[in-house]
Amino acid sequence: MKNILITGGAGFIGSHVVRRFVTNHPEYHIYNLDALTYAGNLENLRDVENASNYTFVKGDIVDASFIDQLISETDFHGIIHLAAESHVDRSISDPLSFVMTNVVGTVNLLNAARKTWKGDFSGRRFYHVSTDEVYGELHDPGTFFVETTKYDPRSPYSASKASSDHFVRAYQSTYGLPIVISNCSNNYGPNHFPEKLIPLMIHNIINNKPLPVYGKGENVRDWLFVEDHAIAIDVIFHDGKNGETYNIGGHNEWKNLDLVLVLCRLMDQKLGREKGETEKLITYVTDRAGHDLRYAIDATKLSEELGWKPSLQFEEGLERTVDWYLSNQEWLQNVTSGEYQKYYEGMYAGR
Ligand code: NAD
Ligand code: DAU
Repeated sequence: MKNILITGGAGFIGSHVVRRFVTNHPEYHIYNLDALTYAGNLENLRDVENASNYTFVKGDIVDASFIDQLISETDFHGIIHLAAESHVDRSISDPLSFVMTNVVGTVNLLNAARKTWKGDFSGRRFYHVSTDEVYGELHDPGTFFVETTKYDPRSPYSASKASSDHFVRAYQSTYGLPIVISNCSNNYGPNHFPEKLIPLMIHNIINNKPLPVYGKGENVRDWLFVEDHAIAIDVIFHDGKNGETYNIGGHNEWKNLDLVLVLCRLMDQKLGREKGETEKLITYVTDRAGHDLRYAIDATKLSEELGWKPSLQFEEGLERTVDWYLSNQEWLQNVTSGEYQKYYEGMYAGR
């Protein structure tokens, strides 16, 4: 059985990737390495935690000696790296923690893989999961990010992700490490931490709290259901070419305000409220500093070369997401109050 290390597997996207690999790939033993920061939550993986091909490892990718030891002790055939600080607003108030996890943490993993695999790279792969934000922002409708778009990161978050992408490519050209990178657009779906737009709005709508729309709500994002991202990662990990980059996106652009209005109407129905009641909660607030105007991905390379396409229409994905949050209000309460954090701190104390 081959061992695969997935980092950040207790987070939003990572938990969907772990579930997919544990369930669809019994030929692998999956190690989920996660520091369980505020964004990591083992509740996301309750359904697979007892699977015989799954092991959770609590640890910090910033800790180089820990990472060296972990990677030298277990014969990993693949590393799928998702662990990161992921929220743009947090990166504006605390850039250094993004440098530590996203840059130093990534270099620690690259170093450990390089040293342990010692030039015998056959059958190995280092897969770095990145973001479309490294390309900066788009202005003109009908323009898209392609794999060759020049990097132009504009927030501390995207600068840290761009830096990590450069290190990953440098380890291939310098040491021959077999790497692959994907850059994905905005994800949505179950288990999304309620600091990000869609789950924050759902949480606030349920609790009748103001819905903070930054600026005029005119910024555009390209939304992809998280399970479709997990499928794309599976396809690229297995069929992607070493050294290549693949863009992943849903061809599903929404202005923030339009998206929030759609959510409000859907929630009116789901909560049995009067039509138009929820949208009264919309509140325009000060814009994010350096707020990127528009992201839009051209995923032609991935679809033409590897046959991946998003499987879900947005309306269906959004309704599944809203239904999940309505049925998992305890999850929402516990992540916002930090209850799970306290529970797992006790469980992993001293490790
Ligand atoms: P997330 O914030 O929900 O989860 C991040 C996970 O990483 C958490 O479980 C956290 O505990 C863990 N982590 C953080 N610091 C760590 C450290 N130092 N050591 C070990 N584990 C640590 O993030 P997400 O939204 O699931 O994003 C996952 C990856 O996908 C990130 O690399 C992100 O840049 C990328 N990405 C995200 C999106 C999106 O829309 N969310 C889109 C494209 C790419
Ligand atoms: O594009 C991929 C990226 O998408 C990922 O790399 C990031 O990890 C992920 O967080 C996401 O970044 P965004 O900044 O686009 O996502 P966020 O949900 O924070 O914001 C989406 C849009 O909504 C953005 O234009 C800012 C706006 N917004 C966000 C929040 C939290 C609001 O108007 N109000 C809010 O309260």
